[in-house]
Amino acid sequence: MSKNDADDLVNVLETAPVVPADVWRMLLTDLDDAGKEHITLLARKVAQSHFGTGVYVRALIEISSYCRNNCYYCGLRCSNSAASRYRLGKDDILESCRVGASLGFNTFVLQGGEDPVQSDEWLADVVSAIRAEHPGRAITLSVGERGTAAYEAFRRAGADRYLLRHETADEEHYSHLHPSSMSASGRQQCLYELKRLGYQVGSGMMVGSPGQQTAHLVEDLMFLDRLQPQMIGIGPFIPATGTPFAAEPHGSAGMTLLLISLLRIRFPSALIPATTALATLLPDGTIRGILAGANVVMPNITPAVYRNRYTIYDNKKSTGSESAEQLTLLSNDLAKIGYRIDFSRGDYETGEE
Ligand code: 5AD
Ligand code: SF4
Repeated sequence: MSKNDADDLVNVLETAPVVPADVWRMLLTDLDDAGKEHITLLARKVAQSHFGTGVYVRALIEISSYCRNNCYYCGLRCSNSAASRYRLGKDDILESCRVGASLGFNTFVLQGGEDPVQSDEWLADVVSAIRAEHPGRAITLSVGERGTAAYEAFRRAGADRYLLRHETADEEHYSHLHPSSMSASGRQQCLYELKRLGYQVGSGMMVGSPGQQTAHLVEDLMFLDRLQPQMIGIGPFIPATGTPFAAEPHGSAGMTLLLISLLRIRFPSALIPATTALATLLPDGTIRGILAGANVVMPNITPAVYRNRYTIYDNKKSTGSESAEQLTLLSNDLAKIGYRIDFSRGDYETGEE
């Protein structure tokens, strides 16, 4: 595809109320190296025009490695007896938030498997306690499919944002990745429910999951267009020991970067992280993600004794930032490309004057 053709397609992303499937497909499959580079630079410019050279940071606390689900791709699936399980108590979580606050973080992300012991009531109580101690900081939850009553209770308790990747928008591909107890439509229903309750909502998909076709990614992009999430997290699939997909090849980092750029152009004000999965595949994945249009990094501040046990996939990079030194390293890496950490809450803003 020539640069002019690529520009015509980009123009569709920038202006069309709905992007036709064919346009997404051509952008995913027909760009040569020069075309991809062109898209990367455009996406970087869009990100800079909305966020300058600031990168938001979120303090990630992995609250439980127990999960009642059995997703075929995930190392924390319930039937993986080799997984190392832990759950944080309320005091651990509150202490982690204090550490995070003292390091300058203004967003806490509580992420965990669907652990029945960390019940809806318990979690709502933890959120209330964090809210009371940190009135001005944002609380993000990422604890799976919990149902409307729970989502309402978390919201009342003070949660602002919720991350729940749709994983894949294609029902058949979804059933290739999950047992029949889970469905793409159920997941999407949760996302619409979360939006209705006033959460800033994050969704996203794995790139290169086993059996994934270009047409599936096109469906993902069209689903995101309908959902209009405030945050979009995508990362390459990485095989995990103890899962049915342990011997499958990992997803493409290059395709992940291209998708970040396309999403940035389509969703100029979205909060898009450079994910840990990308950093696991590429040693400079975080920086490459930022240069492709991502504007968020989520350093892991889970207490050191538990960190590295949240093994959703093999060789997961530990971007541990429980210490000021590690944040300084991130800061230095960003400075090398002319960026800096932005410690503000980084709420979603439409960017319209
Ligand atoms: N490779 C990459 N990402 C994974 N996730 C789960 N397992 C894997 C894997 N093997 C992602 C899913 C999920 C999030 C917790 O991590 O997208 O939403
Ligand atoms: Fe549980 Fe999430 Fe892993 Fe599925 S992907 S097994 S829901 S932690």
